[in-house]
Amino acid sequence: MSKQLSDQTVQEEKAFSNQPPKKRPSPKSITINSQKTQDFSELLSKLSLAGEMSTSIAHEVRNPMTTVRGLAQLLAMEHPEKIGYYQLMIEEIDRANQVLSEFLCLAKNSPITFTDVILNDILRRAIDLLYSRTLQQEVHLYMFFDDNVCLHADENKLMLAFMHILKNAIEASQRGGNVFVRTRICSNEVKVRIVDEGIGIEESISHKIMEPFFTTKDGNPGLGLSVAYKIIEDHGGSLVINSLPHIGTIVEVSFPLPASAAEPE
Ligand SMILES: Nc1ncnc2c1ncn2[C@@H]1O[C@H](COP(=O)(O)OP(=O)(O)OP(=O)(O)O)[C@@H](O)[C@H]1O
Ligand SMILES: [Mg+2]
Repeated sequence: MSKQLSDQTVQEEKAFSNQPPKKRPSPKSITINSQKTQDFSELLSKLSLAGEMSTSIAHEVRNPMTTVRGLAQLLAMEHPEKIGYYQLMIEEIDRANQVLSEFLCLAKNSPITFTDVILNDILRRAIDLLYSRTLQQEVHLYMFFDDNVCLHADENKLMLAFMHILKNAIEASQRGGNVFVRTRICSNEVKVRIVDEGIGIEESISHKIMEPFFTTKDGNPGLGLSVAYKIIEDHGGSLVINSLPHIGTIVEVSFPLPASAAEPE
């Protein structure tokens, strides 16, 4: 359910400007700015401590998980009548592995491979990977991309960061809701805005949302924003979140541009 539209058609700020608040006590808007909040340096050290702890346990946990996964595959072949159970085991092991990988991303020395990458391609890949989720939730995803920009970045990590921000926007949306993704080159920076018209973020939890393992959702690990923030920080970027409960959320990610970065499409 994704569409690439012209500038006129995409009115992403509509989430904030056009929609009257839905008869509720007037909510407070929140702003979180990774460059202006002092708590963020504390958060970074918390994240890297969490990541370092995971580095030491990851090896111990991953090896037995790989063995169990292999055995489950074997048993599924031997007992095709029980394939449903074994498939579930494999999926759960994969989910645990994914959490472990994301946790490892938080470590200070988490390996990072910089190459020249096209930002718009990374965003398209992240959007493609979330396609089935947008269908499931009947969320309409609109893209408006400025000219191609080449960044020196870790392609997979950057994609993971945008996937997490987009996933949050989709999860916060109601059925039939809209999510807007826009890139804009502003002199020496490129900005990526992800706007949703979802439930928004209450002021009472705004100071916690970037903490690892903080979640308001059932069954989610609560790692998405902390992983995204760490990755953006590792790329010299910044993150600003503006949200209004019951109206929506704007997440803006900015990266500095080298003088030669902008390329025509
Ligand atoms: N776009 C958004 N709209 C509303 N709430 C949001 C949005 N993005 C983040 N949040 C809030 O921040 C919390 C933390 O987000 P985060 O992505 O770190 O974890 P999660 O989405 O709960 O779990 P995970 O990303 O690990 O599946 C969410 O549980 C939600 O309460
Ligand atoms: Mg999330």
